Amino acid sequence: MVSKELAQAREHEAAAGAAVQEEDRPVCHFTARTGWLNDPNGLSFYNGTYHLFYQYHPYSTYWGPMHWGHAVSRDLIKWKYLPAAMSPDTEYDKSGCFSGSALTLEDGRHMLMYTSCGDSSEDPTGKGRWLQTQSLAILGDDGEYVKYEGNPVISEKDLPEDADPYEFRDPFIWKGKDGTYRVLVAAARAAEAAGEEPEGGTYILMYRSSDGIHWGDGKVFFEDDRRIGVMWECPNFFPLGDRHVLIASPMDMKAEEGEAVGSIRFPQGNNVCYITGRYSEDSDTFVPDTDRAGRYRYEPVDSGLDFYAPQVLHTIDGRRVMIGWMQDPSVGNTESNGRRQSGIFGQMTVPRELSLRDNRLIQWPVSELEEYRTDESVWPPITMAPVWLRVPGIEGRAMDLEIDIRTKRSCKGCGMRFAADEEHYTQLWYDPAKSVITIDRSHSGQDESIPSKRTVKVSERKGRLSLRVILDKWSAEIFINGGEQVISVTYYTDLSAEGIRFRAEGEAEMDITAYKLAADR
Ligand code: FRU
Repeated sequence: MVSKELAQAREHEAAAGAAVQEEDRPVCHFTARTGWLNDPNGLSFYNGTYHLFYQYHPYSTYWGPMHWGHAVSRDLIKWKYLPAAMSPDTEYDKSGCFSGSALTLEDGRHMLMYTSCGDSSEDPTGKGRWLQTQSLAILGDDGEYVKYEGNPVISEKDLPEDADPYEFRDPFIWKGKDGTYRVLVAAARAAEAAGEEPEGGTYILMYRSSDGIHWGDGKVFFEDDRRIGVMWECPNFFPLGDRHVLIASPMDMKAEEGEAVGSIRFPQGNNVCYITGRYSEDSDTFVPDTDRAGRYRYEPVDSGLDFYAPQVLHTIDGRRVMIGWMQDPSVGNTESNGRRQSGIFGQMTVPRELSLRDNRLIQWPVSELEEYRTDESVWPPITMAPVWLRVPGIEGRAMDLEIDIRTKRSCKGCGMRFAADEEHYTQLWYDPAKSVITIDRSHSGQDESIPSKRTVKVSERKGRLSLRVILDKWSAEIFINGGEQVISVTYYTDLSAEGIRFRAEGEAEMDITAYKLAADR
C-alpha cells in the first residue's frame, strides 16, 4: 500500500522529472530525478543491481521535507530512476525521512534504516527541532518499501542520559562476521551535560541486533568532546587494508591551518574527516591511530569546496566505494545559488574506490568511469609558457584528463583553467616552492558571497605533480598524486565556456592524456 503522500510525490516526480532537459544533467554524475538532492543513502547491491537512495525534496530545488529518492545501476555511473521509495507520511516521520543505509536481511528482504523526524513541540530549546528516532522500511512482495509496524526501533529511551534526542541521526548498518547486525548512529551531547554552549560534542553510538529488526544494547562507540565540531553527521565504518576507517561529517568545526603558510587543513564549518584504527569485533571497540600528542588522528577526506555526507558501499567484487554529496551544505540552500531554473539542484560525486597507503586514505574514480571515455588525445611532453595556452583538441565541459607536471627550480607556479571563456574560468594553481595548490572559482561567474578559494598543502614530490581531473559540466573533481588528496568544486559558468588552458611562470613541462566523457558509449 502506497500512502497518498508517496503517491503524490511519485506523480509529481514523474511529470517534473520528464520535463528536465538532458543537457541540464551532468554526463557522469548523479542528479535528482527532479528538485533537490542531498546525501546519498542506502547504497547497496540487491537483486542483481546497485541501489542508490538519496535525500530528496521533489517539490522544489531547495531542501524541504525529506523523501528518499531511488535509482538503480549496474555500473555505478549510469543510473535509472525508480519511483521515490519513502515520503514523510507517518506520525513519527511526518517532518522528514532523514539519512540512513540499507542491508539485505537473512531472509533475503532488502531493508532501509533511516532517521524519522517527528514532532518539534517538545524541543526544550524552543528552536523547533524535530524529535529524531531510527526506523525501518522493508521491501515487500509488491516491490514497495513498507515502514515497519514497530517503528521507531531506536528512540530516546535508548540514548545515554546526556545525549540530545533532537540531534540523533544517520544510522549506518552492517552485518558482522559473527552474523549479527550493528548500526552506528550519531548523536549530539546535550549542552548542559558538558557544561558548554551551545552543544557539548558528539557521540557515535552503536546498537546491536540479532535479526536486524529488534535493537538493544546501545553503547558509546566513539565520543568527541568538541575537539572537532558539535555533531558528527553520517558516520560510516568499514574495514580497509589492515585497518578500519571511520568517516563522518562533523558540523561547525573551527578552521584549522595547514602545514604550509597560508594553507588550510579544514575550513570553518561543516567538513568530512576520516579516522583510521583497529577494530575488535569481539568487544566492538575501535582504537583509533594517534598523532604525536597521543590523540586520535583525523584527516580531511576532500580538500575542495563542495563535498559532504558521503556514504561507503561494499561492492560485490569487494571494493569499498564512496559517493559524496558534491555541495557545500552551507551554500547549497541559499537563495542565490545558480542553475535552479533547470528544475534540479545538487549532484553526487563520481563513485570513488577507497584504499589505504601508509594509513592515508586514497581515492580514485571507479574503473567503470573509464568506459565513458571517448576521443582520446595523447600529447608528448609540452613545454609550458607564461601565457594561458590551449592544447589543440583539449576543450569541453565533460572531460577526463590525466596530467603530469614537472617543474624546474625556476618555476614560480603553474596551473590550469577550465570552464573558461574570455571572462570566466575556474583555476587550479600549484606553487612548487611551497607545495600548495589553490582552487579558485571566484571568476566562474557567480556573484554571491560564498567561499570561492582554498589553498591546501600537497605532499612534496620534487616539483612533480600528477593530476586526474574529471570535469562534468558544473563540477570538477581533482585527484592529486594518485588520489592522496581530492579537490571537489562546483561552478555554474554558462556551458558555452568550454576552454581549458595551461600556464607556468618559469620552466615546467607536462604530459597530458585527455578524453571526452560521453553518456552514450
Ligand atoms: C547531512 C544531513 C543529515 C541528515 C540529512 C537531512 O547533510 O544533515 O545529518 O540526515 O542531511 O537531509
